[in-house]
Amino acid sequence: DPSQLASEKRHAAAAALRWVRDGMLLSLGSGSTSAAFITLLGEAVQAGQLRVQGTATSLASENLARQVGIPLVEPRRGLRFDLAVDGADELDAQLRLIKGGGGALLREKLLETASEYFLVIADSTKLVPQLGRFPLPLEVVPFALPWVMDAVEKLGGAPMVRTAKADPNQLYRSDQNNLLVDCHFEVIPDPERLAHQLQNIPGIVEQGLFIDLAKAALIANGQEVQVIRA
Ligand code: A5P
Repeated sequence: DPSQLASEKRHAAAAALRWVRDGMLLSLGSGSTSAAFITLLGEAVQAGQLRVQGTATSLASENLARQVGIPLVEPRRGLRFDLAVDGADELDAQLRLIKGGGGALLREKLLETASEYFLVIADSTKLVPQLGRFPLPLEVVPFALPWVMDAVEKLGGAPMVRTAKADPNQLYRSDQNNLLVDCHFEVIPDPERLAHQLQNIPGIVEQGLFIDLAKAALIANGQEVQVIRA
């Protein structure tokens, strides 16, 4: 039920707002759950309840943050975030994640790696016993595409080049103008191993397994919000 899902996303976002302290430097995530968080954060900033600054993991989130009045910080040497808040496409009980369904995995991994604390926010459908049903996204340099497709098949995945939502005849392009390849594995029994194998394939700029990054997750289930800690 889509309205139930939207309400869970808002609950998770509202719970995350209580983790934000005055003066924090934040990494702002991408996707619909993060959009709910950015909107609520903007309201608190506008109401004078919180002073924070942020950097966004996608151009879409950057535009939203600007609209709702969150001051933005440009990337620079030494920049570290107090808190990163972002959604996920799938997560397991050990806080291993699949991300990149929205195409923003590279900036997400960059900013979440540069954060002291990464908090995942998600609706109840995202928590799974085993990762892999959601196709694993890869960001790929266009020239490398044919070899990356071959290499993913060798690892047992079925790769599909992502097409643009608005026009299926056009390929999807990331914020960096790279391609996205969605890899159907069905089950990923050893995410750490697969992450290493993918990282060693030339032309893959980033892969969507986020391991050892999230410190906690807020999973909304109906009216309740469950906290999972690493
Ligand atoms: C963006 O690239 C993804 O990693 C998002 O975090 C993910 O797609 C979650 O999106 P929703 O909050 O819309 O489910």
